[in-house]
Amino acid sequence: MRKKVSIVGAGNVGATAAHWIASKELADVVLIDIVDGVPQGKGLDLLEAMPIEKRDSHVIGTNDYADTANSDIVVITAGLPRKPGMSRDDLLNTNYKIMSDVVGKVMQHSPNCILIIVSNPLDAMAQAAYRQAKLPRERVIGMAGILDSARFRTFIAEELNVSVENVTAFVLGGHGDTMVPLPRYSTVAGIPITELMPAERIEQLVQRTRDGGAEIVKYLKTGSAYYAPSAAAVEMVEAILKDKKKIVPCAVYLEGEYGISGYYVGVPCKLGAKGLEQIVEIKLTQEEDAALKRSAAAVKELCAVIGV
Ligand code: LAC
Repeated sequence: MRKKVSIVGAGNVGATAAHWIASKELADVVLIDIVDGVPQGKGLDLLEAMPIEKRDSHVIGTNDYADTANSDIVVITAGLPRKPGMSRDDLLNTNYKIMSDVVGKVMQHSPNCILIIVSNPLDAMAQAAYRQAKLPRERVIGMAGILDSARFRTFIAEELNVSVENVTAFVLGGHGDTMVPLPRYSTVAGIPITELMPAERIEQLVQRTRDGGAEIVKYLKTGSAYYAPSAAAVEMVEAILKDKKKIVPCAVYLEGEYGISGYYVGVPCKLGAKGLEQIVEIKLTQEEDAALKRSAAAVKELCAVIGV
């Protein structure tokens, strides 16, 4: 049976996610948006690239949620992106309205799907989607940790002039100013970066990682990053569709793990066919634990504003 992935939002993140999925031949793709013509045009354009790419992924663009019926995974990217000077949190109320509308329609047609949430502010939007979808927590997962750690990995690889393939990095916490990069769990060919770089240089790379989204927004001026965010979402799609049991940082609903209950926070997760299959609890130092709790408190504050 062919797998089906629907992507809500045919903007840069959604369309680029469709591109990665089709070019990796992971699934058939339905690209949906409220704007008439844009998903249809991008969907058809991408479909017409398939003979060149030698891929048999089928791609359509639509405005009709009926076309998304029985999706295995639905990736939600809908919502406004940031403009320069805005924080992700400034998008809260507008994107919450969009998220509520989208999740209601998605669930009507794919009641058993796995939702991957990409819209910002990420952790609060994941929580809003989880509350509304009423799916088990295993099936509503927020993307962000993969993106944030990919940024950290990029900076580490550049700094040490090594292959990005040698670099792993762990970034926990919310997708925002309170994210918690963990240098001692970030390695180059298995060697912790704390052995390879002075502490103050690591701190600079950590800060650049925290500001990674804003750095791109500043350049683009009219929108936010999309190549790396969409690639991150598609790594999650691939891990789930191929039942890879891959451990990656994702935002998930915590029920006591890491001493946090009732909120979406980024932690190491095992992704497989069931969605979230395990939360990996690693031992944190007091300082790291305090940073994670601060991150959770920031998510809690946003959730209180929208009442989710
Ligand atoms: C970023 C936005 C998409 O981090 O949250 O680039």
